[in-house]
Amino acid sequence: MSTSETASLPPSYPHLLTRERLPDGVTLFTLEARPATLSVGDQETRVLTYNGTLPGPLLLLEEGERVRIVLRNALPDATNLHLHGLPIPPAVDDPHRVVAPGAETSYEFTVPEGSAGTYWYHPHLHGSVTRQLFEGLSGPLLVRGPLERSGPLAAAWEHVLVLSDLSIDNGRVADHTEMDWGRGKEGSLLLVNGQVRPTLTVRTGLVRLRLINASTARYHQLALPGRALHVIGQDGAFLEAPVAMESLLLVPGERADVLVTAEEAGTLQLLSLPYARTPAGPSPREPVALLTLQVEGAPTRADLPTTLRPVERLDERSAVATRTLTFTGAMNPIRFMVNGRTYEHHRTDLTVKADTLEVWELRNPSPMDHPFHLHVFPFQVLTRDGVPAPFPAWRDVINLRAGETVRIAVPFREHTGDVMLHCHIVEHEDRGMMANVRVTRD
Ligand code: C2O
Ligand code: CU
Ligand code: CU
Repeated sequence: MSTSETASLPPSYPHLLTRERLPDGVTLFTLEARPATLSVGDQETRVLTYNGTLPGPLLLLEEGERVRIVLRNALPDATNLHLHGLPIPPAVDDPHRVVAPGAETSYEFTVPEGSAGTYWYHPHLHGSVTRQLFEGLSGPLLVRGPLERSGPLAAAWEHVLVLSDLSIDNGRVADHTEMDWGRGKEGSLLLVNGQVRPTLTVRTGLVRLRLINASTARYHQLALPGRALHVIGQDGAFLEAPVAMESLLLVPGERADVLVTAEEAGTLQLLSLPYARTPAGPSPREPVALLTLQVEGAPTRADLPTTLRPVERLDERSAVATRTLTFTGAMNPIRFMVNGRTYEHHRTDLTVKADTLEVWELRNPSPMDHPFHLHVFPFQVLTRDGVPAPFPAWRDVINLRAGETVRIAVPFREHTGDVMLHCHIVEHEDRGMMANVRVTRD
């Protein structure tokens, strides 16, 4: 990779995963899932890692590049790998794959043009996702494109921030109780790149934060008091232009690409503000400081980019089908459903046609929020409870507030095969809130 790319990379966690250029032009990355004992918030804790670190190493890919990611399983249990958000063939990113202990598998694909953005990777073996993710298995993935090669973004001081949480019990990651499967477990330790309230030192100028919510269930309403969050990207895509926000909701699975103008030296706090994702949950907490941003250096100007990448407007009148998906839960035992059914491996729940546009009405009549996620095919929000989306954006995760109905437009393009939709509170996913979608061309 060129030196300009390395210059803007994080100097500390997450580590950049070594890339190996093979003679056939393919770039090889190797991930090994394995247990490790690491210091987490000052306690020696048995966690699950990729390559021994929490979070896993940063996979840095380029648009158009041909890559092979090898996953070795050195865990005592089966696992697999999901490249969350990447619009690659479903046969490659196939969560039905099972990688037995001691086995390995590889994922080979060309990084799609136009896919520059923020992604992440994590296991996706139905029934084990929650515990493997909660115990530490996740890592960041970035795709770089033309906007990073020159201009304001190339000069920004960039950091990847993976947000997660866990609770420790006697040197191990605490177990889930039955209630945790219902509410979605929130760990008592809030981690940023595996550390409790770290300090990040940056130089004056434009600071670019790639935020990834890798929690199983915890929501973050993020704010940086004294500074606006200039959102330039959400999930795996750029917005058309920066959108200034005072605070930003980041739900499990969701990513945000944010610019902060830090023209003078000083100290900023990244806060997680109270957010009630279930009315029955604990009364709102106080704001929690996640990270201290220490800005050093001489005063300088920090100019925001004015335009990023165009976002195509989807015309819902050209949709070939409108469907309703309803997300609900039930007790005894605690389980979750899409259209009244808990997940089944071999059942195709929806069949759609490649190269068509569909409108989906996502209904959440339940008393808690559910973050909806669809694999491989990015979508756009049309309306929330009838109110049009404020600006066009490609998404792969969207929060459904308790009681809310969100309409989305989903273009099924190019790829055929089987993909999944599910709630990204992974406790709910493992307890059934997932469905199989078959994309066909006949
Ligand atoms: Cu983050 Cu189905 O996944
Ligand atoms: Cu995904
Ligand atoms: Cu849910």
